[in-house]
Amino acid sequence: MVEIGKGDISANRGLSQAAFQENLSFISVDIDRLLAQRTQVFVDILRRTREAFEEGAYHPIPSLVLPATETEDAFRRMWESTHLGRIAVDLTERGCQGLRLAGERFDVRGMLDPQAAYLVTGGFGGFGLRTAAWLADHGARHLVLAGRRGAASDEARQATQALRARGVDVLEAVADVSREQDVRRLLDTGDQGRPPLRGILHCAGVLADAKIDAQTHETFARVFDAKARSALHLHRITLELELELDLFVLFSSVSAVVGNTGQANYAAANAFLDGLAVQRRGAGLPALSVAWGQSPRPACWPRIRMFPATSPRWGCRPWKLIRPWQPGGLPAVRCRRGGGV
Ligand SMILES: NC(=O)c1ccc[n+]([C@@H]2O[C@H](COP(=O)([O-])OP(=O)(O)OC[C@H]3O[C@@H](n4cnc5c(N)ncnc54)[C@H](OP(=O)(O)O)[C@@H]3O)[C@@H](O)[C@H]2O)c1
Repeated sequence: MVEIGKGDISANRGLSQAAFQENLSFISVDIDRLLAQRTQVFVDILRRTREAFEEGAYHPIPSLVLPATETEDAFRRMWESTHLGRIAVDLTERGCQGLRLAGERFDVRGMLDPQAAYLVTGGFGGFGLRTAAWLADHGARHLVLAGRRGAASDEARQATQALRARGVDVLEAVADVSREQDVRRLLDTGDQGRPPLRGILHCAGVLADAKIDAQTHETFARVFDAKARSALHLHRITLELELELDLFVLFSSVSAVVGNTGQANYAAANAFLDGLAVQRRGAGLPALSVAWGQSPRPACWPRIRMFPATSPRWGCRPWKLIRPWQPGGLPAVRCRRGGGV
């Protein structure tokens, strides 16, 4: 018996020894540790396994593929453990038929209108500045960057100057997007001769990390205000003003899916963004919530500052790193034709 599961071992469960009278062997292989501690052995095994597949000696284990509409059934079967092999959920267009999120996809680049304006909240932060540059790279010519302190840092000033040097009209707005009146001021530009707003990229965010027992109303409020309350203002006021948006992009985090030690408030605020996107899409409104992974430490890219303070302090290991400056680092944001992003 070769055991690659770890549940019983982690829980230190007992094993009846009577079975070993039959000259049986029980071997436990911890693949995680094998990879970390004996990497070359792991690599050799992978190579030999691939060769065995190529030679036809090994065959993939059976898999049951269910459409995304039957995800609940997939989880039920998994839980009941009645299946053999893998259960897969098909997220291709075909598998998603019947889901409201399905739709024809194409690159967002085709949607950016040089005559329109795009608002980036948290626009002077790490992602905000990078997003502004990305919008300009893909044809946007009018940008509104918003933050509570404006372009306060050298990086922000240099980046906005660089955009202007490229012929991009950059409006620097000092605004706290958690305040309804500030959001209204940003969005309600009807009589100011500004280009029509066609997209919002909500990058504003703050961290207030603390272990769950040290979280307070205030640490939750701080994070929720910057991310969730502000998103709700953007959502409600754009509807109220009947703005015809092509993009409504929310900068969420993988922490909403997997959680991060010390970031219960942050995970919840990001989960709110994800929920808002689902609700908007259900109502036929453009929305995309991007679950970003962690960016590298500030030393690697100083403008990104949201690397959770928890990671080094509480020994968490970083998830997949974002390298936004590399080609393809900011992902191909995809959208629905007609519905927008
Ligand atoms: N970097 C990462 O590893 C990572 C990973 C996953 C998700 N994200 C998300 O991506 C977004 C951007 O992250 P980042 O790394 O670029 O952070 P950042 O460099 O700290 O930028 C965030 C910006 O938001 C602005 N801001 C905060 N509260 C605001 C408010 N109430 N109104 C207006 N602006 C406000 C801040 O400027 P002021 O202080 O001047 O207002 C700051 O410039 C965040 O929402 C974050 O949750 C980041």
